[in-house]
Amino acid sequence: MALINWENSYSVKVKNVDTQHQKLFTLINDLYDAMNQGKGRDVTGKILDELVTYTKTHFAYEEQLLKSNGYPAFAAHKGEHDLFTGKVVDFQKQYQEGKASLALPLMTFLKDWLTNHIRGTDQKYSSFLNGKGVS
Ligand code: FEO
Repeated sequence: MALINWENSYSVKVKNVDTQHQKLFTLINDLYDAMNQGKGRDVTGKILDELVTYTKTHFAYEEQLLKSNGYPAFAAHKGEHDLFTGKVVDFQKQYQEGKASLALPLMTFLKDWLTNHIRGTDQKYSSFLNGKGVS
């Protein structure tokens, strides 16, 4: 069973970004499934790496979109991205070194962070970007 399901209320009204957010949902669900199925560290580690890499790719894309359009709250938005990236990269490192394991609190953290960020921070740029012709 999926940990998070995409629904229209998550839309930021920018097609490429919605697609990227959906991919992040898929990767979090894949990680959750692998954890529940008791997959080995080689499998879970690869999914975790993919999630971290794709998160960085998405943040870079979104930041470029916001910056190039002169989004006023760019710095605060990037600050949230940087804080989250720091946390997941730190976890990834501990996981690679065998000092951490995948467990429900991590999955809950990932899910809550992503859904709260999309609904609380990303959606604030929807009307701004749509007003610039980005959709
Ligand atoms: Fe879609 Fe600000 O992350």
